[in-house]
Amino acid sequence: MSEIKTTKPIALAADHGGYELKEAIKSHLAERGVQTVDYGTNSTESCDYPDFAAKACTAVQQGDSELAILCCGTGVGMSMCANKMHGIRACCCSDTFSAEFTRRHNDANVLCLGGRVVGAGLACTIVDTFLEAEYEGGRHQRRVDKMMALENR
Ligand code: RB5
Repeated sequence: MSEIKTTKPIALAADHGGYELKEAIKSHLAERGVQTVDYGTNSTESCDYPDFAAKACTAVQQGDSELAILCCGTGVGMSMCANKMHGIRACCCSDTFSAEFTRRHNDANVLCLGGRVVGAGLACTIVDTFLEAEYEGGRHQRRVDKMMALENR
């Protein structure tokens, strides 16, 4: 395993469909000595994923966290919500290749996972891959700048 360079806590959030996966990721990161802030939900009781995506992504927007991890049933609803928020670049991942390259090339700041799609073991490996990868800048910055300019259209 490589070093995780962020100095700020990782923001975590989930709905009922991602609650158990969020808990598994929280324990995994605690074992690695990585600080997290948990924005809920705190049970498997039915709730609305946009409410929790908004909480964790606001922490990223405000600079309280550099990175967030969001879990719902598929990861898709969370990623759709997150990508509607200014400054957020969220990727829904079920594989490590996407998780690595969305950090290296897209400067993704939010990882979304589906609790009904990936098991906890794979999800934690995806999380490690995402957190250990670093944005490469260079030629990718022009593309990220163009991506962010789309927020104004
Ligand atoms: C909740 O049943 C489910 O719709 C939600 O967790 C998520 O998968 C939405 O994208």
